[in-house]
Amino acid sequence: MELLEAHASAPGKVILFGEHAVVYGEPSLSLAVARRTRVSGETVGSQFTVNGFPLNPEFHAYIERAIRLHWDAVPLRLQTESEIPSGSGIGSSAALSVAINAVLLRLKRQAMPPVADVASAAFETEFATQGAASPNDTTVSTAGGGVLMSPRRLEGAEVEFLWRIQRGEREWNAHRVRIPRLPLVVGNTGMKGKTSEQVAKVRRFVEHSAFARDAIRDIGRLTLQGAEALRVGDLRRVGDLMNRNHGLLHTLGVDTPRLEQLVEAARKAPGTLGAKLTGAGGGGCMIALTEQPEECRRRLEQAGAMAFSVEASPEGLRFEQER
Ligand code: PMV
Repeated sequence: MELLEAHASAPGKVILFGEHAVVYGEPSLSLAVARRTRVSGETVGSQFTVNGFPLNPEFHAYIERAIRLHWDAVPLRLQTESEIPSGSGIGSSAALSVAINAVLLRLKRQAMPPVADVASAAFETEFATQGAASPNDTTVSTAGGGVLMSPRRLEGAEVEFLWRIQRGEREWNAHRVRIPRLPLVVGNTGMKGKTSEQVAKVRRFVEHSAFARDAIRDIGRLTLQGAEALRVGDLRRVGDLMNRNHGLLHTLGVDTPRLEQLVEAARKAPGTLGAKLTGAGGGGCMIALTEQPEECRRRLEQAGAMAFSVEASPEGLRFEQER
């Protein structure tokens, strides 16, 4: 019997180390978080609709792009629902790209698509929509848990190779890494940073400055040190490396005065081990690693942020029940 509807959900993420540098093939380390975006699709429409409205590239850029790239059949009636604040570096666009492509591939193939195919389709969607991107966010959202991206395939008992994604001369190898329970608090500036603009800004800097290229390489090195510190459970060192990563992101010009205030407020809170901006910057969110999450959250709120603790999500892409 032909399958007429599909439902999928995918989590958001926080980048612990390596944003921006991962666009240039350097390592990054991220963690999926327990806030999800859900997409349902039915092949019953006479025109494409999203939440009851006609599909509009202005408001539904990622969905429209996914359809253009990965769908060639009848119009779909789509519903979306998200627990992830948009445009804030917590991976809302990646989660949406994963969930919509999962629905499209499920309906198109009439069979469960391999997760690596969904990850790849979601990356293409993000890349085409943003003009530049690494497969980091879409990979983490597909795989769930802790994910280490690396320009080379890593061997060893502490990493499990997931899949490889290539584009042009670059390749990113995705690995599952076990991450200890991390008490993380997110502070949201409430200002939306546009990922494409921040990525373009860093690109201009990298093209013209050896100083910026050094910062990118330093972030890559520090990410691998962070992965090792996490593996041995040395959270003090993890915090210290987060502080250093933030300094390098500041150098790259993606920090803002508001993010800086929140990072400072978090660092002053008792129990904080480290704090940095997370995601593309230019607004959006910062994260703090802390032994006292409640206190850190309170301080961030006092500093004017919307703040919340995040739980890791071991689960990535999930196909929801088909009725
Ligand atoms: O702000 P977000 O969640 O879209 O994160 C972007 C991460 C970057 O490294 C800046 C870009 C990318 O595609 O990897």
